[in-house]
Amino acid sequence: MPVSIRQIVPSFAAEVSGVDLTRPLGADEVAAIEAGMDRHAVLVFHDQALTDDQQRAFTRNFGVLEQAPGGHVAKAHERRLPLDMQDASNLDKEQRVFGRDDRRRMFNLGNRLWHSDSSYRAVPAKYSLLSGRIVVDRGGHTEFADMRGAYDALDAATKAEVEDLVCEHSLMFSRGVLGFEIAEDERAMFRPVRQRLVRVHPVTGRKSLFLSAHAGNIVGWPIPEARAFLRDLMEHATQPQFVYSHKWRQYDLVIWDNRQTMHRVTRFDETQVRDMRRTTVAGDAMTVAQAA
Ligand SMILES: [Fe+2]
Repeated sequence: MPVSIRQIVPSFAAEVSGVDLTRPLGADEVAAIEAGMDRHAVLVFHDQALTDDQQRAFTRNFGVLEQAPGGHVAKAHERRLPLDMQDASNLDKEQRVFGRDDRRRMFNLGNRLWHSDSSYRAVPAKYSLLSGRIVVDRGGHTEFADMRGAYDALDAATKAEVEDLVCEHSLMFSRGVLGFEIAEDERAMFRPVRQRLVRVHPVTGRKSLFLSAHAGNIVGWPIPEARAFLRDLMEHATQPQFVYSHKWRQYDLVIWDNRQTMHRVTRFDETQVRDMRRTTVAGDAMTVAQAA
């Protein structure tokens, strides 16, 4: 059966059928999925009961796996999964649900804010692939915002204004919004990086707004003015016409392009187990030179 792609909402996000991701894919299948990503930016696959190794192998079709040193307050010995797999669950190493006051849980609550994965790294991520191993029955949706549509809908004056702006991104900013306190010895890990506010997709040439909760400043702007403007843009970009909300079924695999979308998780009952595992395709370049 050939790969078939069906759009879910107007303008972006599509459902893919006719492909079994647990086995090695043919070059034509990979090409069809990549073309689908270029066009739709979010692809949903149902009924893919992947093992961690099958998820890694599928991810490698699209580039190099991003390793995850830093980027979290969990210490190396506390990790449930190896460094090439991001743990988006609410579980500790002993497979127990985090307590309400657990610092790792509070850090993870930052995922409720609209963001682009790894925008706090100098080379931000290309794709994220999230596998729903154990899903919850209420809430815990992943919402996506189409940043190409958001860019296209800006008026001409705003497009001209944002064209060459550069933002500073750091986990310090996204966690700071929720009042999460970063310890002195964690600050070096959260040093801000620079990202262009407008990105151009390397294949389609479409422009998109590169926003993220991690963005907390615009280079050369007073901070309150930058944050107020970034908030305005964020509100604009997350209007319902740019958003798709994914309601998880067990063994869904969802891929999104972090260069063209933002996402967030919605609230859920955190006494229930939610086991989600993410592999990430590393980006291949910085969006702008870093400060010396
Ligand atoms: Fe994320």
